[in-house]
Amino acid sequence: MDMTPQRWMNTCTYLDDVFGRADEHLETLMERAIAEGIPDIAVSSSVGRFLNLLAIMSGARTIVEVGTLAGYSGIWLARALPDNGRFITIEPNELHANFAQRMFDEAKVADRAEIRRSTGLAELPKLVEELGPNSVDVVFLDAIKTEYPDYMPHARTLLRPGGLLIADNVLGAGWWIDMPEGENPSRDAADRFNRMVVDDPAFDTACAPIREGVLVARKR
Ligand SMILES: C[S@@+](CC[C@H](N)C(=O)[O-])C[C@H]1O[C@@H](n2cnc3c(N)ncnc32)[C@H](O)[C@@H]1O
Repeated sequence: MDMTPQRWMNTCTYLDDVFGRADEHLETLMERAIAEGIPDIAVSSSVGRFLNLLAIMSGARTIVEVGTLAGYSGIWLARALPDNGRFITIEPNELHANFAQRMFDEAKVADRAEIRRSTGLAELPKLVEELGPNSVDVVFLDAIKTEYPDYMPHARTLLRPGGLLIADNVLGAGWWIDMPEGENPSRDAADRFNRMVVDDPAFDTACAPIREGVLVARKR
């Protein structure tokens, strides 16, 4: 049976309905964000659940996210942490960062969640200096797709052996990975990033094709 666009949409809706159930705060968070002018580009609820599960399975105590938006994926990730855990998320847009801070307060994860009001490429090297190599359990990339290959060396250094590199939109984000090369810079960067991680002997890598594709790589 062919996977038509309609069938894929129905499948994603099923995934969100069955695997993405959340509390009322998370379920209404993006509606509230959109009403305040924040774009509707958060991960889906089934991807949020997947992030939460991966972070729990890795025994995460320190998580770094690049691209906070409204705090939606951040709350899923921060909820995977123990009481003394640390969630650091990077966001240069003040509107997004201010809204996310309110959401972290309301979700009662503000004690472990910290927003760095900066860009990924400015902040990741600082985190390497501050936290040191092999210090982070999960790095989640969800910001500028053309920058994914440049986030990679910093994430690689930050992660401890056994830690997880997770990246959203590795199969699409308003484009599809099966487009010809050279037509879309984000598609080409995602392709470069995917191959870079797969070819890196420091990682065991797979891709879960949930929604727009989630790359998961475990540092050896
Ligand atoms: C796809 S959204 C993140 C969605 C969020 N992870 C979620 O699922 O709830 C991307 C975010 O990256 C932010 N951003 C833009 N440029 C950035 C940069 N250079 N470094 C880090 N984040 C950036 C955008 O403002 C936006 O909020």
